[in-house]
Amino acid sequence: MMRAYDVLLKKRNGGKLTEAEIKFMVEGFVKGDIPDYQMAAFLMAIFFVHLDDEERFYLTKAMLESGDKVDLSMIDGIKIDKHSTGGVGDKTTLVFAPVIASFGLPIAKMSGRALGHTGGTVDKLESIPGFRTTLDMNEFIANVKKYGIAIVGQTANLAPADKKIYSLRDVTATVDEISLISSSIMSKKLAISSDLLLLDVKFGSGAFMKDYEDAKILAQSMVDIGKNFGRRVVAVLTSMEQPLGRKIGNSLEVIEAIETLKGKGPEDFTELCVHLSAYALSFAGFGDIEKCKELVREKIYSGEALKKFGDLIKAQKGDSRVLEAPEKILPVSGDTVELKSKISGYVEKIDAEKIGLATMILGAGRKTKEDKIDHGVGIELLKKIGDEVKDGEPFVRIYFSEKSDLDSAVKFVEEAYGFSTSKTSAPALIGELIY
Ligand code: URA
Repeated sequence: MMRAYDVLLKKRNGGKLTEAEIKFMVEGFVKGDIPDYQMAAFLMAIFFVHLDDEERFYLTKAMLESGDKVDLSMIDGIKIDKHSTGGVGDKTTLVFAPVIASFGLPIAKMSGRALGHTGGTVDKLESIPGFRTTLDMNEFIANVKKYGIAIVGQTANLAPADKKIYSLRDVTATVDEISLISSSIMSKKLAISSDLLLLDVKFGSGAFMKDYEDAKILAQSMVDIGKNFGRRVVAVLTSMEQPLGRKIGNSLEVIEAIETLKGKGPEDFTELCVHLSAYALSFAGFGDIEKCKELVREKIYSGEALKKFGDLIKAQKGDSRVLEAPEKILPVSGDTVELKSKISGYVEKIDAEKIGLATMILGAGRKTKEDKIDHGVGIELLKKIGDEVKDGEPFVRIYFSEKSDLDSAVKFVEEAYGFSTSKTSAPALIGELIY
């Protein structure tokens, strides 16, 4: 009979685990036969010894098979899924999904919620009054067939083993290990039968992987897991060195996404949305990247992508007047404060993680999974890296509520910003494509 002790010992000593051993650990832990302390030791052994390609495949498979699979085969067309490894001000799905759907490619997307310094698409959508992010599977599929687009929260039973293991990783300092991160993300994404999975792997101050080379290794690991499952997966490395766009916080991000769908969004965020959409279209056979970028811009300027976003809102019972008057329909806090520069010069750095933490402290995010979200609070970056700023000029606007810990948030924002008297320039946004 297999024993958890022997599997632990083997991994601790640098051994390579078999599929049966990995399955035994994951299944046993989910059933409650393997206690937390043995799983914790197992995770720590993996943290130091790592898993090779085959072991990552087996771990992903065991976690994926612990729950439901979402079968999209009854939907015609090429189903494209996108996943970001997490960021600050990253409202890309709100633009990417309607853009892709406006080409007639079905979007059947399951998204996550905010946790820690990073935001979540589901919370952002829920800032639209009435918008339902919980649809049963029949309604989800029916909406995709009828409107070409549906975005919902992840079903409770998507890779439950990952959920249970992640909670343990969170308290045992075993989150930031590449084989564990890549298996965790892929166990959830591969449970959905998309034809193409586009991974937006972040690097920089607001990302899991601060370093570009580490992000590249993570991207390759996820792509390789996908390939071992016989799936098409590509990853794009993109910068989270500073927050994306200018608005962070749930309602504020929906406003910025609508502005972007109207062709009036911030330069960096627009560039990212156009790039990612173009990569997806190109893989779906719409031509080379440059041609696809042109096609994406046309869908934005013609208003078709915005119209698709309207279809999504209507289909999921949100207030679609939000497209015409987002500031009136969305709950945005009326209490604001601006931080003013003490020097004349240029913005040199904006630590994205610190801005994310400040936004969370204001109430826009969650410290723990149980925390409630305030959709109206957030931060607007009036100045980004490379922008000139005059002495006394505001560089940030904070939207707060009476429940916000404003003093702590201000402290984080002040720490996040760095200024220079010499000219600076914005960091490059798009890195390599990994496939
Ligand atoms: N996101 C996940 O889903 N899992 C990880 O391990 C890290 C980020």
